[in-house]
Amino acid sequence: MNIKIISKNQIKKTGTLVIPLFEDIPLSKLPENILDKTIKNHVSNIIKQINDYKSIGKINISPIINHNNYNNILILGLGNSKKLSMNTFRSTFSEATRKLRDLFSKNIYFLSMENLYQNNSPIEFGQAIAESVYLGLYEFNKYKSQIEKINIQNIFILEENKNKYNELKLGINKGQIISNSVNLCRDLVNEPANYMTPTQFAEEATKIAINTDISIKILEESDMKSLGMGAILGVAQGSKEPAKFIIMNYEGDANNKSNHIGLVGKGITFDSGGISIKPSRNMGDMKGDMAGAAAVISSIQAISKLKLKINVTSIAVATENMPGGNAQRPGDIVKTFSGKTIEIDNTDAEGRLILADAVAYANSIGIKKIIDIATLTGAISVALGNICTGVFGNNPKFISELIKSSKSTGEKFWELPIFEEYREQYKSNVADLKNTGGMYAGATTGAMIIGEFIENSSWIHLDIAATSKSNTTKGPNIKGSTGVPVRTIIELANRMQKKI
Ligand code: BES
Ligand code: ZN
Ligand code: MN
Repeated sequence: MNIKIISKNQIKKTGTLVIPLFEDIPLSKLPENILDKTIKNHVSNIIKQINDYKSIGKINISPIINHNNYNNILILGLGNSKKLSMNTFRSTFSEATRKLRDLFSKNIYFLSMENLYQNNSPIEFGQAIAESVYLGLYEFNKYKSQIEKINIQNIFILEENKNKYNELKLGINKGQIISNSVNLCRDLVNEPANYMTPTQFAEEATKIAINTDISIKILEESDMKSLGMGAILGVAQGSKEPAKFIIMNYEGDANNKSNHIGLVGKGITFDSGGISIKPSRNMGDMKGDMAGAAAVISSIQAISKLKLKINVTSIAVATENMPGGNAQRPGDIVKTFSGKTIEIDNTDAEGRLILADAVAYANSIGIKKIIDIATLTGAISVALGNICTGVFGNNPKFISELIKSSKSTGEKFWELPIFEEYREQYKSNVADLKNTGGMYAGATTGAMIIGEFIENSSWIHLDIAATSKSNTTKGPNIKGSTGVPVRTIIELANRMQKKI
């Protein structure tokens, strides 16, 4: 699927014309030089029959006969032009392109007009168009014998003002790189666990490294043993699949070593719960328990392709959590990379175990800003539902920078507190701490247990257990894996080029 910017006289194939309409802009203001009388008459006839066609999200499609260039007209309601944000545009246009795909429309002509640029630069608009189509038309159909949907071939932006072309193209390119990485993340998460083993995951990370200027180092279980990563090894010991500790490095700001961020991802390729086994209902969803690891390797891919001026290290810990003769037991005590010991109260609280070793490792190699991303707790959905990602951390400025970065992406985040008093809940009688904190504030105690392994670093923990997967297709989100929080992480890296 291609996105091109063309002027009206370059139209060669018939297709659907998308006309954005605003509440505060009369029809007479539609660009004269692009729309002919037939179209204007058609549009005014259509809208006479519809009550509301211009509020945000309204989509009306009608066939047009006897026109050389177009066979359909899609009227895209965008509300008040002064309030148009790229988030609402992206949601609306994603829906529109899905409808056109259902109608087997192959070529789409999008009518560009000045009002679209009132609040946004052509770069931002180009990015939004690209994200709408590449994210909104995503399908995971690798395992279907018959492909159900025929994809749109071309999106042409009809723009007569040549001065906008360069910026629009930059935005489209940016949006395409970002969407590719989000869709990579979605693919990795949607893959079943019999395919996406830790070894396969390491393979995918290697492919990313080969195709970018990212370096990669993969620690095997023997390496983890020498390093004393007892928490990861404890989780991995019940599985036949060997664990992989995948370190990737992108150096985009070599002269400024301290401009460095570490992204640490939970990569449980299947979470059965281990000996504390999960109920069978929806257990299959636990193939997605590596969404954090998928997000970190996808984010570093985009950051490198966008050549952002920042240094990024991603650490993805990939292992299964399985029961078996060699599995770890409740009551076991493991020694972590940091030297602290953890009593295993529940083998299903495995994410914090592997992350305890991983964040301590990130600390040990001198990373001063660490974000861990994990499908950590069911409790986060009790607290926040599936609308937003839970945020925890030890540095309000860092957290506020992340939340600011999320605004332009439409991904939602909400901070939950870390209070000393909760520490009581995960005290152990026999070890330095235990891996569970009881029934209450489960997302917080999960986060805080990871936080116990952070020393002298700014740290954010993102609990994506409820947001990494969606039950519905809406706007740029497709049922299944969402790719959250890849877009926000990329935007944070983008902002970190200039400050903090
Ligand atoms: N991977 C799960 C969390 C999860 C639940 C992710 C639902 C996505 C959807 C995690 O490893 C887990 O099992 N957490 C336990 C922790 C508890 C035993 C302290 C939980 O939330 O029940
Ligand atoms: Zn898990
Ligand atoms: Mn678990």
